Amino acid sequence: MPKPLNIGMIGYGFMGRAHSNAYRRVNNFFNLEYQPVLKAVCARDAEKAKAFAETWGYESIETDWKKLIARKDIDAVDICTPNNLHKEIALAAAAAGKMILCEKPLAMNSEEGAEMVAAVEKAGVPNIVWYNYRRVPAVTMAKQLIDEGRLGRIFHYRAVFLQDWTISTDLPQGGEALWRLDVNAAGSGVTGDLLAHCIDTALWLNGSIDTVSAMTETFIKERKHNLTGKVEKVGIDDACAFLARFKNGSLATFESTRYARGHKALYTFEINGEKASIAWDLHDLHRLSYFDHNDESKLRAWRSIHVTDHGGEHPYMDHWWVPGLQIGYEHSFVHQVADFLEGLATGKPAGPTFRDALETQQVCDAVLKSARAGSWEKVG
Ligand SMILES: NC(=O)c1ccc[n+]([C@@H]2O[C@H](COP(=O)([O-])OP(=O)(O)OC[C@H]3O[C@@H](n4cnc5c(N)ncnc54)[C@H](O)[C@@H]3O)[C@@H](O)[C@H]2O)c1
Repeated sequence: MPKPLNIGMIGYGFMGRAHSNAYRRVNNFFNLEYQPVLKAVCARDAEKAKAFAETWGYESIETDWKKLIARKDIDAVDICTPNNLHKEIALAAAAAGKMILCEKPLAMNSEEGAEMVAAVEKAGVPNIVWYNYRRVPAVTMAKQLIDEGRLGRIFHYRAVFLQDWTISTDLPQGGEALWRLDVNAAGSGVTGDLLAHCIDTALWLNGSIDTVSAMTETFIKERKHNLTGKVEKVGIDDACAFLARFKNGSLATFESTRYARGHKALYTFEINGEKASIAWDLHDLHRLSYFDHNDESKLRAWRSIHVTDHGGEHPYMDHWWVPGLQIGYEHSFVHQVADFLEGLATGKPAGPTFRDALETQQVCDAVLKSARAGSWEKVG
């Protein structure tokens, strides 16, 4: 029998559902030493929290996250709240000796992130940040191909993350679901929300970024605020594009916006190396495009690899269905829980840890600073 690991989850929105689903399914598909137990969910509204607990099978509810952290029967705290609460909750959870699974971005900025890293490292508690795209099998396979040296020297990294849901001037900012438009709750706009994903993947696949040069724009300057009822200045970046130089000498472009009409969540990246190139598209997430210059020239072409094979060939897929049958978005969270639990059992922590996620935060900060100053900025 696996050992129980009691989860206390704070926040029950989009990510609360994605994580709950992952905790419930992980032991059905992965043979692990630990098993998450849905001990308590915390939200400010008791009725809504009760309804969520019933739907997802949580044993109890709390309406104050401090009470949840104080509970002796909670081993791990999962932070699924807006970004402005990550630091306070993480510091309290670390002080109480709890393991922490924190949603991304780690914090509102790198100063906060550094405090969080110091707190978990001082407390010696296992910690991880939910940059889940690393664990889409095709993305994990991209990492394997790069680490095997198949691309050779890398010249270019290109990433975009495009959405179109904030174009209307009638959309208010702040409060439930729209906290992303409120700089005081989100910290930044597309930089911390969407580009942070692109940056985490990029650092993982291609190493550290040295310098950045960015531009941002806020297309709609004022919006009604849901919490105050007043029309207030919008403080987030609606769009951000930046150039980057990686420490390995490669050049990069990153672009993100919520004003790309027709795109809901177009996250793509392409990496060009001396010997081969790789491309990936979230809309077709089980496929990895691969071009190998070593192929016989008359057959040389981009191939589209359906990453669903067994026998250890394609990451994570041995745990799922039969070859050829694909999995989806939610499975990246199941994989993250599986790797976190495996890390507890082996003592080799799964990434990205708080320290790894701090580097992403530092890139975000350098990007925003560069956009304000109109200059190249060094990361860190
Ligand atoms: N990994 C990913 O791909 C991904 C995707 C979406 C969001 N996120 C991150 O997840 C976090 C949450 O985003 P979301 O989309 O789930 O937001 P959401 O608005 O759907 O849910 C936020 C939840 O936090 C709760 N909350 C707010 N203040 C609280 C408080 N004081 N005490 C208890 N609960 C409180 C809200 O009631 C709500 O249930 C953010 O940090 C976001 O950046 C990550």
